[in-house]
Amino acid sequence: MTSVTLTPEQAAVFAAIEGTREHVFVTGRAGTGKSTLLNHLNWNTSKQIVICAPTGVAALNVGGQTIHSLFRLPIGLIADHEIEQNDAVKKILNAMDTLVIDEVSMVNADLVDAIDRSLRQARQRKNEPFGGVQVVLFGDPYQLAPVPGDQAERAYFADSYRSMWFFDARVWAETGLRIFELGQIHRQKDRTFTHMLNAVRHGQVTAEIGGHLNAVGGRRPLPESGAITLATRNDSVNRINAAALRRLPGKSKSNPADIAGDFGGRAYPADEKLELKLGAQVMFLRNDTGSPGEPPRWVNGTIGEITRLDRIVKVAIDGEEHEVEPATWEKHKYTWNSAQKKLTKDIVAEFTQYPLRLAWAVTIHKSQGASYDTAIIDLGQRVFSPGQTYVALSRLTSLEGLYLERPLRPSDIIVDENVERFMSLAEREIAELPAP
Ligand SMILES: Nc1ncnc2c1ncn2[C@@H]1O[C@H](COP(=O)(O)OP(=O)(O)OP(=O)(O)O)[C@@H](O)[C@H]1O
Ligand SMILES: [Mg+2]
Repeated sequence: MTSVTLTPEQAAVFAAIEGTREHVFVTGRAGTGKSTLLNHLNWNTSKQIVICAPTGVAALNVGGQTIHSLFRLPIGLIADHEIEQNDAVKKILNAMDTLVIDEVSMVNADLVDAIDRSLRQARQRKNEPFGGVQVVLFGDPYQLAPVPGDQAERAYFADSYRSMWFFDARVWAETGLRIFELGQIHRQKDRTFTHMLNAVRHGQVTAEIGGHLNAVGGRRPLPESGAITLATRNDSVNRINAAALRRLPGKSKSNPADIAGDFGGRAYPADEKLELKLGAQVMFLRNDTGSPGEPPRWVNGTIGEITRLDRIVKVAIDGEEHEVEPATWEKHKYTWNSAQKKLTKDIVAEFTQYPLRLAWAVTIHKSQGASYDTAIIDLGQRVFSPGQTYVALSRLTSLEGLYLERPLRPSDIIVDENVERFMSLAEREIAELPAP
């Protein structure tokens, strides 16, 4: 993960973050290397940075903390409630130069304003946005949106904000946000396919594009193995996985995770009880770190099949068998080290499990961020949230790997009007390329 060489546009954005104290939003279509750049920043910055994300799984992916645990915020709306801060939180909020938030499309405006208020309060700089901290946001608003809350929460947003989106937070009236858009797509090589994906992203699917996607995706038979189903709903995912596991002959074996420390009871990065059988289709949840110097044998998202299941677990990928060992995920917490005068990231909990999950199906929501060579996309009865179809289709590395459970319909493509408003008015800096 750390060995990728940044492209000139990624390097220019990195330089803008390193070289200024301005707030930055790094965006770009799926597969343009936002997460790759965030990871590079994590390893190469000379600033005191703190990384966080809206959900536990997203935070674990980037070695950060959830926003709520970092700021010790209560779940639900914060509105104008008083924010309580103990000394430990105050120290961390005072020590950081830069706050990095990944998957910001899922962060709502209320939370952004609470972060702002919390930083001003802790740093005793009441009149400075974010208390003088540089804020760097990563994400693509055409992908996952903030989850709408209950009735009361929706009413609060309707009365208090233009929309729930992070870019409609009040703090932006007081400070600027430089927007950098990465343009070069790395996940897909085929320009015809990226052109079609772009049409889906913007709700501009012509009859020709729709016809082409349906013709390719409608090929039959569906692949029998090695393809994952991306489904809109959790219940269909569980149903597909459980049924497929049952259909396999033999007895299943269950492996409990080894959990040390406080994981907060939620947001485990893998199954607490991993149920497997010989022949089961599985997905890797981590990049291979096995043999330094060698190319990785698998990455997060690679699909394989269980070929051995006793003391040793083996998975075949494209016909080649590999031994897989349990992996450990670390849950981090930032603390202020007063002796060394710096922020340290401590491990507060560890979760050890085979980095595998049953993979006949996953939700589109959970597939966010991953890449697949082959996938069956099951949009079910109907698509119910903006960006869902775009996230699903853009996981594929090529059109040849696309299979559709049912044809795409115009109503499957939903673009949030607030996103269109913001992205069309936003002044974007296409990263200025340094001279060759
Ligand atoms: N500079 C680079 N050189 C080579 N490969 C790259 C580079 N940047 C990104 N990639 C590769 O492109 C793929 C997509 O990158 P990444 O996951 O960072 O994109 P993303 O913008 O975060 O996508 P998404 O919006 O879907 O989360 C990955 O396989 C990554 O390794
Ligand atoms: Mg990403």
